[in-house]
Amino acid sequence: MRPAGHPLSPTSSLPPLRSLPTLTKERIFSALENLHELYCPVSLSRAIESQLELGKVHDGLPARQLDSGYVSENEDDIDLEGALDALRADNFERNFAIRWLTTLIARVEELPLNEEDERERVVDKASYVLASFAKAAEEDEEEDSRLTREFSFMLSPSDTPDFLKSPESDTNEKIKIDVRLHDGSHTTTDHTDVGLQSWGASIVFSDLLCASPARFGLTRSTLGSSPRIIELGAGTGLVSLALDKALPHLGISDATLIATDYHPAVLANLRSNIALTRASVKACALDWSDPILEAPLDAPADVLVATDVVYALEHAVWLRDCATRLLGPGGIFWLMMTVRPNGRFEAVIDSVEKAFLRASPDAADGRHLTILAVENVAKRRGVGRGDESGYKLFRIGWA
Ligand SMILES: C[S@@+](CC[C@H](N)C(=O)[O-])C[C@H]1O[C@@H](n2cnc3c(N)ncnc32)[C@H](O)[C@@H]1O
Repeated sequence: MRPAGHPLSPTSSLPPLRSLPTLTKERIFSALENLHELYCPVSLSRAIESQLELGKVHDGLPARQLDSGYVSENEDDIDLEGALDALRADNFERNFAIRWLTTLIARVEELPLNEEDERERVVDKASYVLASFAKAAEEDEEEDSRLTREFSFMLSPSDTPDFLKSPESDTNEKIKIDVRLHDGSHTTTDHTDVGLQSWGASIVFSDLLCASPARFGLTRSTLGSSPRIIELGAGTGLVSLALDKALPHLGISDATLIATDYHPAVLANLRSNIALTRASVKACALDWSDPILEAPLDAPADVLVATDVVYALEHAVWLRDCATRLLGPGGIFWLMMTVRPNGRFEAVIDSVEKAFLRASPDAADGRHLTILAVENVAKRRGVGRGDESGYKLFRIGWA
């Protein structure tokens, strides 16, 4: 009926449901076997295990080539694997198989089988394949929601003077800035890998930046040529990636964007997000508590940005001292703090104001950073965690 080890498509191999009462036992089990081989293939290790049980493996190696369906030694095998993968991914075929299996289970009494245990085997095999569909769907869903996030922000280039706009921005229409990135998977053992996810503040801040770039000084006339923008505690890099996409539309194609973080796993995820979006953002390690200003951090920044980076008492002072060393003359540090009014984060709510009341010991020429303006930003529906009540946006510059 079918060549050994080569499962057939459900539509071409399953007997019509109306013929169930007349099917032979062999035909029913062969059809179930075919679906099992197609949708629940045995892994190579399982195949070796079962061969071991049968005494056919010597010194850990199969005595002969295993017909697991997964050993691709030659091009024919590779072609077959490709064809089977395509067949497995075919939703029409899958739905056809699901309908056939559920009907088979519902009408098992009509099958011309003599023994009750044969009916049980039919139900067991059919249920096994159906369960594998449900499991695969669950895994797909979990993987998608855990890993890939897509953000869209509407960029208003209208407040940029026409002669400074890039050719792409020769209209006052808003431009959609799409950023697709991966939130890394959280470990339960390391409580410092919080930067593996994109926090509400980074989403709201990216949205504000795009909605009114001139307000944040993102114009050619404010930034001058070859501006340097550095993000502190970048996490997944959403803000830097959004800037990387937005700036060319504002006539700024020569900016150096540097996204920094101190956590190795967070930096690895950040680098992979930069590669994924093919962004021209540099990622580099920077610890606010002990900043080492080697290249590419060896030149002053025109703009510093940081979102949701104040969640321990020492953070604001570290950020102040770090920014004092990084920010160039006339530069601005945009800091968006998340307000979490309950629990242990309550203590840090005023820590930014308190930190910037005093000068950093690193302040040069008697100048120090100070808060030039602060604005309360409302929490947005569906953005950020439940314990966030809103955000404080600080505009920090030289006093
Ligand atoms: C709550 S996350 C916010 C991440 C990102 N800015 C966002 O809004 O999605 C805080 C970030 O600060 C980073 N961070 C914490 N302490 C740091 C330090 N001492 N130096 C540099 N980065 C630090 C963490 O690794 C993490 O990426």
